[in-house]
Amino acid sequence: RARIGVMTSGGDAQGMNAAVRAIVRAGIHQGAEVFAIREGWQGAILGGDHIQHMGWSDVSGILNKGGTVIGTARSQEFRTREGQLRAVENLILNGIDRLIVIGGDGSLTGSRALCLAWPEYVAELVEAGRITAEQALAHPHLNIAGLVGSIDNDMVGTDMTIGTDSAMHRITEAVDAISSTAESHRRTFIVEVMGRHCGYLALMTAIAGGADYTFLPESPPRDGWEERMVDVLGRGRAAGRRDSIIIVAEGAADREGHAITAERIQGVLRDLTGEEARITILGHVQRGGTPSAYDRWMATACGVEAVKRVLEADALSEPLLVGVRRDEVHCTPLIEAVEATRRVSDYVAEGDYEAAIEARGVGFTT
Ligand code: F6P
Repeated sequence: RARIGVMTSGGDAQGMNAAVRAIVRAGIHQGAEVFAIREGWQGAILGGDHIQHMGWSDVSGILNKGGTVIGTARSQEFRTREGQLRAVENLILNGIDRLIVIGGDGSLTGSRALCLAWPEYVAELVEAGRITAEQALAHPHLNIAGLVGSIDNDMVGTDMTIGTDSAMHRITEAVDAISSTAESHRRTFIVEVMGRHCGYLALMTAIAGGADYTFLPESPPRDGWEERMVDVLGRGRAAGRRDSIIIVAEGAADREGHAITAERIQGVLRDLTGEEARITILGHVQRGGTPSAYDRWMATACGVEAVKRVLEADALSEPLLVGVRRDEVHCTPLIEAVEATRRVSDYVAEGDYEAAIEARGVGFTT
């Protein structure tokens, strides 16, 4: 029977458990054996108890839980050749040559690199006597499918990444709560949201929360933004608004590349208006808690498709990214998604912000 490994890797995200549950159950349904690789690639490197056979009921009651019950890690060792060799060795010793990785851009890129190097690593392991020639022959390829688990929605190839919708709900609730106290005191709040180099969370929650102003990494403001921001906030107040809400993405910067932080915005407001704005940094609250309905069904649908894809071919010529396009499950060669995602940061670095936004190609599906 085919053996599928499933792991969550990199930062956790709400909905990862729904994906794990779907992969375990769809795998069993298709007649395969499924193994959870605990703590991401670090678990593959360590082997032993980190690679655990999963039964149907091992994933009971996890659908509504935040985070990932099989653990995750950002493994430094996986970046080394010996780390990757040990991961390949442990996968082969457990008979696993089909792998579904639920992780962010970095984890999926690393997984693809290991997949390409698989034949070379296998040969080296045989040479070193760490696996037998029979074991090598039985596992000539590694089939990989990736699901993008990240609240950032920073990967091209899927309209939404697992966790983003839940994070947007959490941020919007927080902005609603902040708005009421801000209105009472006629205050300005600066809310910093996550997203690394991606402004999706900031942009969408600025719209959903009715914010006055937002700062995004893909769209650094032109010179004079300080006065323009003050003017927009002032016009809102003049029109009768009692609160002012600014949402700043953690990766926001100006056109010289200097970070636009909540403190910097606070300083600008102090200098230009004399107002002492309040700062709320939402932090990991955004990544925790119950997954939304969208994240649960989307992760489930992608998980089922990923199982189908890793089982249907003996050797996938290219690892696949399983995501969604216009609310339907959609597969893209991982290399295309990785390269298109890189292009976004290249355009930002070159100052071609329109191209960056175009290349980001995010959907508006929820
Ligand atoms: O990639 C997800 C994310 O939450 C980012 O939005 C954020 O920049 C980063 O991870 C935080 O990482 P850590 O949990 O390691 O502090």
